[in-house]
Amino acid sequence: MEKKQIVMSGIRPTGFLHLGNYFGAMRNYVKMQEEYECYFMVADLHSLTTHPDTKTLAESVRRVLAENIACGLDPEKAALYCQSHVKETTELYLYLNMLAYKGELEKTPTFKDKVRQHPDNVNAGLLTYPVLMAADILLHRAALVPVGKDQEQHLEIARNYAQRFNKRYAEVFPEPYPFNFGHQLVKVPSLDGTGKMSKSENQNATIYLADTDELIRKKVMKAKTDGGPTEPNSEKPDYIENIFNLMKLVSEPSVIQKYEEDFNNCTIRYGDMKKQLGEDMAKFIAPIREKAEAIQNDHIYLKKVMEAGAEKARISAGKTLDEVRKAMGLIYY
Ligand code: TYM
Repeated sequence: MEKKQIVMSGIRPTGFLHLGNYFGAMRNYVKMQEEYECYFMVADLHSLTTHPDTKTLAESVRRVLAENIACGLDPEKAALYCQSHVKETTELYLYLNMLAYKGELEKTPTFKDKVRQHPDNVNAGLLTYPVLMAADILLHRAALVPVGKDQEQHLEIARNYAQRFNKRYAEVFPEPYPFNFGHQLVKVPSLDGTGKMSKSENQNATIYLADTDELIRKKVMKAKTDGGPTEPNSEKPDYIENIFNLMKLVSEPSVIQKYEEDFNNCTIRYGDMKKQLGEDMAKFIAPIREKAEAIQNDHIYLKKVMEAGAEKARISAGKTLDEVRKAMGLIYY
């Protein structure tokens, strides 16, 4: 029997999940679980690098799990686990730290961003964030990592560490690549067109999977538009292109085509377009929100999911670490 390719990915429990998480990552998880050997986890250790207050952590972990399951992830098919439950992760993180150079880590754009956002808490965990992420991936010797565009550099770093380890010790790790079904990696823009949808920033311009229909409509109506084009077939300003891009995620092709035509012949009414987008987003999110709410309150079920997921993940992790220790010469009898 042909061995299935291995897939791994993770999400930090630092807030509510949103359409960016869904279209950048979770949509792929759900498709990949049918064809690949999949490991998906809640990156609780990563969240400690920026969120040292753990009062709401347990609830956030449960919400991320519930929202993943509500989106179609099947814990029977994929291993769905919590990062801190698989302690092999932190052992591999330590070994990989010896292959990680301070200068390189300091240059990572995500590190520089976080230093700007949290100048009072520039801890070593933050600096070595990409090392921990590489450990998550290499732990299962994953080849494919479904992520959004913002994680591209972290994947490049993980490939570097895989190469360095293989060169220094022995060929243990495949090189992991970011993955999106058939397309380039996705970046879901925020509604105000100033950045991307995010768990913790830009909350009024981000659509969360837990938002009510009313809130979704309200946020979408606030998206920036203008008086409309005055010349036929004009180029779209960025913020208008964003609205079209968001529409492509949730609306029917015929609807998008109508607004493209209206734009090109200068008859577009952005108020109507945003109303339609709000309805389509609400229709898309409502069933996920309702399902997630029910699952999130079922603590016994979620405990079972986490235990079963960690057990599967530890089997794969244990095999990798046996090879890692052997390759590194850490066996003394
Ligand atoms: P995180 O928690 O920020 O995001 C989870 C996933 O959602 C994607 N994403 C987006 N995609 C498109 N548009 C957006 N606006 C958007 N916002 C978020 C992210 O690319 C990601 O795929 N470092 C990771 C967590 C992690 C991880 C791993 C990922 C820890 N270990 C191992 C893969 C493999 C992170 O912070 O993702």
